[in-house]
Amino acid sequence: MEKEKNYEVKDLSLAEQGKKNIELAEMRMGPVMEIRRRFEKEKPLKGITVGMALHVTKETAVLVRTLVAGGAEVAITSCNPLSTQDDAAAALAKEGVNVYAYKGESREDYYRYLEKVLSHNPNVLIDDGLDLITEVHTKRKELIKNIIGGCEETTTGIIRVRAMEREGVLRFPVIAVNDNKTKHLLDNYYGTGQSTLDGIMRATNILFAGKTVVVAGYGDCGKGVALKAKGLGANVIVTEVDAFRALQAKLDGYRVMPMREAAKEGDIFITVTGNKNVITVEHVKSMKDGAVLANSGHFDVEIDVAGIKKAAKSTRRIRPFMDEYSVDGKRIYILGEGRLINLAAAEGHPSEVMATSFAGQALAVEYLVKNKGKLPAKVLALPEKIDNEIAELQLKAMGVKRDGLTGEQKKYLESWKEGT
Ligand code: ADE
Repeated sequence: MEKEKNYEVKDLSLAEQGKKNIELAEMRMGPVMEIRRRFEKEKPLKGITVGMALHVTKETAVLVRTLVAGGAEVAITSCNPLSTQDDAAAALAKEGVNVYAYKGESREDYYRYLEKVLSHNPNVLIDDGLDLITEVHTKRKELIKNIIGGCEETTTGIIRVRAMEREGVLRFPVIAVNDNKTKHLLDNYYGTGQSTLDGIMRATNILFAGKTVVVAGYGDCGKGVALKAKGLGANVIVTEVDAFRALQAKLDGYRVMPMREAAKEGDIFITVTGNKNVITVEHVKSMKDGAVLANSGHFDVEIDVAGIKKAAKSTRRIRPFMDEYSVDGKRIYILGEGRLINLAAAEGHPSEVMATSFAGQALAVEYLVKNKGKLPAKVLALPEKIDNEIAELQLKAMGVKRDGLTGEQKKYLESWKEGT
């Protein structure tokens, strides 16, 4: 571990590699780079300290550099003990960013680093899963007076912050960046779809074609995972608790059944529900020998890893991110200790999808700062106009041209008089 007052990273000598990876990400993140060019001129974040708990990846580094270009001071830690890319963290430390993160953090370090970020007395928080915002509301209430607002990146964090709002304990505005269409309909769907399978493949080198893949949860993430698994030739079963989503899965051509039944059929299980104990010891007991279990939900609660460990006669690490549990004479494989497999065993979502997610984060921070003191302490959506601007920027980056409405068409859409 390399420690200085303003950073704690695994190995500073990884910075050169990190720099190259960040450059690669920048090339693929057109919208964020366009925002950065404007930020460099306008400095909308001058005098603002941004505290971040986000996966410390090359894509996040692109966002950090953009906030810095806008005039902000940034302090960052990870939002998951297994997701840090140590080379990206080293590169940020070398650039003078306050960064506290390494891959494989202990629980103690995870919370110590949240505290380190808060010790910079941030004005804006960017969170992914709500641990940082929770920390402020429970342990560091004295910091609230300096906080303009927060931005939340993920579905799980939105569920938590809405619970805070319902209970009347939320003390500053939080922008639900996840709810941008240019976030959850792209990142959750295309990003989680690809990166989850990437993580499972890197961890196991398993063939998807011909396998029965059980996808638990049919939200935006589950839909993406199911589609990509089908595209690789897997037979997909979906499990769902929501009637409408279960119906969507059925009409999309998947088999839908309770986990109790799916457990007997699956070769590969992927949880993306945002809920806990979706796969339990009871399920595991009816699984086939060799079943592979992976989670791509934000927290490591979807698979009851502790319960399975307790029920196992023996456990061994087969290779990085792949542990074997011997349960009732069968070999069951849990990947990445039940933590989100796309960031544990692979590199998270590709830069192209993080481009629109993080354009949303950069613009949400700017929006909070511009509207300082005017927004209620509620969960807020970013205005749709900004969301649409992000889509325009990404189309531009991809060299895609689109049609526009004619004057006649605009008028038609605004009128009610023209019918049959
Ligand atoms: N979440 C999922 N993929 C990510 C990535 N590449 N960077 C940051 N956060 C992510």
